[in-house]
Amino acid sequence: MENTTPSSAHNQFDNKSQAWSARFSEPVSDLVKRYTASVGFDQRMAAFDIQGSLAHAEMLSSIGIISEGDLADIRRGMAAILEEIEAGRFAWSLDLEDVHLNIEKRLVELIGDAGKRLHTGRSRNDQVATDIRLWLRHEIDVSSGLLRALRARLAELALAHADTILPGFTHLQVAQPVTFGHHLLAYAEMFGRDAERLADCRRRVNRLPLGAAALAGTSYPIDRERVARALGFDEVCRNSLDAVSDRDFAIEFCAAAALIMMHVSRLSEELVLWMSPRVGFIDLADRFCTGSSIMPQKKNPDVPELARGKTGRVNGHLVALLTLMKGQPLAYNKDNQEDKEGLFDTADTIRDTLTIFVDMIGGVRVKAAAMRSAALQGYATATDLADYLVKKGVPFRDAHETVALAVRSCEERGCDLADLGLEELRGFHGAIGADVFEVLTLEGSVAARKHIGGTAPERVRIEAQRILDESLEAAR
Ligand code: ARG
Repeated sequence: MENTTPSSAHNQFDNKSQAWSARFSEPVSDLVKRYTASVGFDQRMAAFDIQGSLAHAEMLSSIGIISEGDLADIRRGMAAILEEIEAGRFAWSLDLEDVHLNIEKRLVELIGDAGKRLHTGRSRNDQVATDIRLWLRHEIDVSSGLLRALRARLAELALAHADTILPGFTHLQVAQPVTFGHHLLAYAEMFGRDAERLADCRRRVNRLPLGAAALAGTSYPIDRERVARALGFDEVCRNSLDAVSDRDFAIEFCAAAALIMMHVSRLSEELVLWMSPRVGFIDLADRFCTGSSIMPQKKNPDVPELARGKTGRVNGHLVALLTLMKGQPLAYNKDNQEDKEGLFDTADTIRDTLTIFVDMIGGVRVKAAAMRSAALQGYATATDLADYLVKKGVPFRDAHETVALAVRSCEERGCDLADLGLEELRGFHGAIGADVFEVLTLEGSVAARKHIGGTAPERVRIEAQRILDESLEAAR
């Protein structure tokens, strides 16, 4: 697609080199060309670039800047280009720097003068800002759907394990018994807040920069509201300098993504721990694990480990974008071309990670007996015994002391609190009666915590159902 016609001020695309070449006396070196080009990565915004151009062209025609014939040609040309791109037949050229110039050049090739009129009242500066917002809005919608699906899988597993008991930890020491359903729903809460953050970020992504042109707006009587409506934007950006230059919306998305990955990473850490033979609480389906080339017995939880690892690159992209933005004077600077790769990688990473987790969580095999026997170790119901004494009129601090003595005695004898006989227990405090064994059992302990936010099976069922209903509602 190299064109060898000599430079001409009348036809920017006749020149072999870049679109602005008439102004320059020497071409850029190959290295500088590669250094400054973004077509290698921004071509993934092509469909949105075309969508934005069509909305712009329709508006230009509505105010009489281009004719209806030009608009028809542009529509026809863009349809052909989209087809070429989707079929992998489009010849991307580094000489044309980025996705915008590549498409525009091809449009001129296909339809001639009408193609050259498309860029009226527009600059690549407002064009690229529009493309990124359209692309990012789509990514937000996809990842929001995945978060919803992941919450639904967690809630389903929680419903199935509303009664399954495992030790709850603080400081990674056995603290109190909790239900596995309750533990899973903790993550459903985290991912619920993540979805709220994406929805909030979407409001600020969904504003139209087009019309800002290079930086100052344009002298054509453009109708920005019309373009915004055509592209599904809720609002138009109210200041042209701001519209072409700030990428805070992308930074917000990266921050929301970093929090998603932080939550995924915490869950991953637990999955890895739970799958360790030393713990043995769960098994992951084979398709999420790999073996070892040397140790035949190994089944490694590669997927959660990698997800935990990928959290680092997403955090990195957030810091990179913040740093990219902080030193830039108004308005557009080429620095901003550096916003894309990190942003793309962030969106890809959360999309792939969430997609895999939806499948993986749905297939977790729970080893309830191992969870239960772990909960029976470590005096997980000591707090329940203290609370029991309080209900019998003993001040809490005295009850705490009494139970500490009982635990110490159990430790010396190598037994659990529930293994002590009634007479032995009464030896620690006279207020203890035969009904004490109801609270010393794991089931009694969790069932008592049935308030909002508690771990009781009946509460878990209510909360899990609420999350399932919500996700059905949102998917509608
Ligand atoms: N490829 C550029 C970017 O990603 C498009 C805008 C370039 N504008 C310019 N005046 N050089 O930001």
